[in-house]
Amino acid sequence: MRFAVIVSFGLGVAALSVTGMVGADPAAGEGVFKANNCGDCHYTQGPAQEKTIGDQMAKKGPELWYAGSKFQQPWLEQWLQDPQPIRHIKYNSVTEENPGDHPKLAAGDAASVTEFLMSLTVAEVEAGVIKPKKSAKGRLIFVKKMPCSGCHEFPGKKFKGGRSGPSLLNAGTRLNPDWIYAYLKNIDTFKPIRMMPNFNGVLTDKDMKGVAQYVANFK
Ligand code: HEC
Ligand code: HEC
Repeated sequence: MRFAVIVSFGLGVAALSVTGMVGADPAAGEGVFKANNCGDCHYTQGPAQEKTIGDQMAKKGPELWYAGSKFQQPWLEQWLQDPQPIRHIKYNSVTEENPGDHPKLAAGDAASVTEFLMSLTVAEVEAGVIKPKKSAKGRLIFVKKMPCSGCHEFPGKKFKGGRSGPSLLNAGTRLNPDWIYAYLKNIDTFKPIRMMPNFNGVLTDKDMKGVAQYVANFK
């Protein structure tokens, strides 16, 4: 009995390393994710689990169950190896600076975990809707008509934006343009408990698309 268990375990490892060489193996990446205790701070199964402010405050890091729809693969793979602060303020705090102490992964593990995270996609994000654009209308919404720039750092000339929300400085390489629009449209799906206001109903669909195009062009 014991022998049989060892043999099948051995075969499992062999199968993993073979598919690992080919690339794209989300299951192997999930193993690396678990082995590095990433799941202590991030959950990867949707839908959103937070129902109360207490649930949100108990989280030690952002949810990753829609990571494959939210992020761009090259950015993710690079960031996992050299994680630079995204939020100026420490996660779930209002006063403390982000300590910038996120765990790092070696290149091979980062590639493998990226395969796993990029496999976590959601139906709410329709592909090919938002093309990044220096939209003048989008800019007007972002800096004037709506309070976006009061909470988010952005590539502004004199005014660089607020610090309470995640920085959007490199949103064009970090975020999937289609996710930005889906997020504005269905914010409750992604973040039922949050600081950011719901703009669906405040902005028209066309304006949500325009501001998403504008944010998606931040480099
Ligand atoms: C001790 C808790 C903790 C652990 C362990 C941890 N993270 Fe994080 N993670 C965070 C926090 C906090 C942030 C927000 C960082 C920021 O805004 O700069 C974050 C951000 C992220 C992000 C960006 C998410 C977003 O929406 O901005 C990814 C991707 C990520 N972590 C993946 C991982 C992976 C993979 C591991 C395992 C190697 C891991 N994390 C381990 C706390 C953690
Ligand atoms: C009151 C502050 C506030 C305002 C106003 C605001 N946001 Fe946010 N935004 C946040 C915060 C905080 C988050 C992180 C999630 C949360 O807790 O709500 C966020 C998240 C985001 C994200 C996802 C970033 C990421 O890395 O997860 C995008 C994109 C975004 N906001 C765009 C906008 C746009 C566009 C507007 C204006 C139409 C806007 N925000 C207005 C505070 C704000």
